[in-house]
Amino acid sequence: MIVSKCNEDLMRSFKFRMPQEVTFGSGCSSTAAEKALQLGSKRPLFITGSHMAQSKHLAWFIQKSSELGMSPGHWNKVEPEPPVELLEEAAVFIRNGCYDCLIAFGGGSSMDFAKMAAVMAENPEIKVSDMVGSEKIPKKGLPTIMIPTTSGSGSEVSAVAVFSFAEERMKKGISSRFLVADTALVDPELTLDLPPHITAAAGMDALVHGVEAFLSLGTNQFTKDLALTAISNIYFNLAECVLNGQNLKARESQSYGSMIAGMAFSMSGTAGVHAMAYPLGGQYHVPHGEANTALLRWVMEYSLEGCEDKFIPIAKAMGVYTDGMSACDAAKAALQGIVELGERIGVKTRLREFGIPKEAAAEMAEAALKEVRLMSNNPRPLDFDAVKKIYENAW
Ligand SMILES: [Fe+2]
Repeated sequence: MIVSKCNEDLMRSFKFRMPQEVTFGSGCSSTAAEKALQLGSKRPLFITGSHMAQSKHLAWFIQKSSELGMSPGHWNKVEPEPPVELLEEAAVFIRNGCYDCLIAFGGGSSMDFAKMAAVMAENPEIKVSDMVGSEKIPKKGLPTIMIPTTSGSGSEVSAVAVFSFAEERMKKGISSRFLVADTALVDPELTLDLPPHITAAAGMDALVHGVEAFLSLGTNQFTKDLALTAISNIYFNLAECVLNGQNLKARESQSYGSMIAGMAFSMSGTAGVHAMAYPLGGQYHVPHGEANTALLRWVMEYSLEGCEDKFIPIAKAMGVYTDGMSACDAAKAALQGIVELGERIGVKTRLREFGIPKEAAAEMAEAALKEVRLMSNNPRPLDFDAVKKIYENAW
């Protein structure tokens, strides 16, 4: 465990939210049906994307659920960056089918979707748009179990879900104690067959979670400790996961890093990079991990001015020998290491590569600044001119 020398943060109180039970380890997902039974389920519903229809793991979960006397179902319509309208459809399906527990099996989109569908099924009178923001969900939804098949979103342990609002061409986040899952089964074996480009994008998302959780104005000693360990695990293992996906040891470190980065940001909040990534997803459908990677360098270059010393522990977690180095040089070394990692694993680093016109910077800046929940966490304040300039630099 990497420990920050400064303990001033211990003088600030903090709270910590997590699923009631988190199981981590290769093979642990085989207990999914038993976990549903322990939650009192008689009729669990597996929530996945359409590509999971052929999954041998899913077939096993469903068969095992039947053997244990439950009557499982499967809803496979989750889309990447899920549109909010699908939630209404899923909630009706859940209520009509009398399902009593939702089991997400997939990446961040499936997990976010299941967490929110569980809330919608129990709160039919409230619109999703009324729950955007912090702590606007009135009561707990159905029990949920999260089984991630990627290592990136941290949704399995976080209190956050993000959706696309097509009419406003924007992605929006919902944060609530009622979006924390009941059970998480984090099984690195499930990530072994993940294609390189998805491994890379999801992995960079997790790295950004670690960096932003550490730098966020909402951080505390606990989130800092989690974030630094996450950064270290991800930084030293992500390239291997991309280049040699069957390396289980690297996959385990990456899954662990992603999970604890999720715990960290769930408490401290993410910041400018995530806020500025939302318009890229909402308006130009750039996948979340790629949007974060393209923006990270430029938001960090802006953010480090005046708070270079905050980057020193990040540089150390990445193996930079910082003794005798100025805070500014250590910060630049950390940033350079992250940029080079992104380039090495082939994630796009320029907004123009996504077909975004440079003139879109102003409109995107206006949209990003509406994400006050995240913008206000940034270590250096961001205004319209600064955000527009960052988009232009990233172009
Ligand atoms: Fe993220």
